[in-house]
Amino acid sequence: MRRLASVSLFGVLAFAAAGAQTMDVAATPPMGWNSWNHFAGRVTDRDIRAAADQMVATGMRDAGYVYVNIDDTWEAGRDAQGNILTNDRFPDMKALAEYVHSKGLKIGIYSSPGPKTCGGYEGSYQHEEQDAKTYATWGIDYLKYDLCGYGEIMDREAGTDQERAYAMMRAAFAKMGEALRTTGRPIVYSLSQSGWDSIWRWGPSVGSNLWRTTGDIKDSYGRMAEIGFSQAGLARYAGPGHWNDPDMLEIGNGKMTTDEYTTHMTLWAILAAPLLAGNDLTRMSPADTAILTNKDVIAVDQDPLGRQGDRVSAEGPFEVWMKPLRNGSVAVGLFNRGEDMEAMSLPAASVLGLKSVRSIRNVWSSGDTTKGPWKVPGHGVELLIVH
Ligand code: GLA
Repeated sequence: MRRLASVSLFGVLAFAAAGAQTMDVAATPPMGWNSWNHFAGRVTDRDIRAAADQMVATGMRDAGYVYVNIDDTWEAGRDAQGNILTNDRFPDMKALAEYVHSKGLKIGIYSSPGPKTCGGYEGSYQHEEQDAKTYATWGIDYLKYDLCGYGEIMDREAGTDQERAYAMMRAAFAKMGEALRTTGRPIVYSLSQSGWDSIWRWGPSVGSNLWRTTGDIKDSYGRMAEIGFSQAGLARYAGPGHWNDPDMLEIGNGKMTTDEYTTHMTLWAILAAPLLAGNDLTRMSPADTAILTNKDVIAVDQDPLGRQGDRVSAEGPFEVWMKPLRNGSVAVGLFNRGEDMEAMSLPAASVLGLKSVRSIRNVWSSGDTTKGPWKVPGHGVELLIVH
């Protein structure tokens, strides 16, 4: 009995000592879906319910996608007591959260430290604790907190003093981090700004589990590649409970080829990026479903070691990226950023931090265990698990 009592006391203390929710949630990069990339400002309660239904029907939930996240434009004003109100596209947020939870999923929401969000809706400025409590009462599991409208407060109070403006930004993010923690509910805390002030260096110190490192993604190969390949050098800042976020997925939104969407998924997995699908789940092609639910690529992203991958070589249009995995293997992406099919080979074992290469498995050409070289299509990739 004594022993049991001391173990549970230790458990309680360890939980309290964890302080920030950073390690209680997001031990691996968050996976789910977000309304913005497809629905933008038109999203409704019905779309969120349909997304939850489809997460189950398409096998996404069983592949590991958990969060159904409402982005900007759900907010109305405040009542006389200052409580945040939902607009008529979201008649009952608590009932919606219950619905999403009943599907074995979790639900996310969006706000800003400013008086207004990016879309011009009501933000949390001077209502941080009240809003965090409201989210917890509704049953919210994830908050995306977008700097946006707070920029005008920074301008007003800090003027051209950039150091002061940055200090204000950190304090504003820390304030909501603390408010969420105080609710006692585990809520993933996602920060959104364009990577200003090298946010990867201080994101965890304000209680954040993930932070955007770039401006917004678009459903184009050019923009996706610009963002994804610019992540070189950031690996050391990611780890269990705190992740770099190169923005949400565009897979299935229709403006990239299957090879390009395969590159998108592979690069995000090697980056240990959050995997937040952003397409209309009610109209997924079999090819898009196959990319989003491929178990091997998801396992690379979600590997429990929690190491972000990085670039190991770049030569003209060819880039090789590598992510160490817990079982001692490495995931290697051979990316062809050029327009034409070209042959690519695996770099020497020493370049990959391995003593020797025993076996290779090609994720996207399942069953292929040859040692290359591989013909990689323009804008395409080979993803290899190298033992
Ligand atoms: C910013 C964010 C987007 C989205 C919109 C909503 O642009 O970067 O991801 O949340 O705001 O207004």
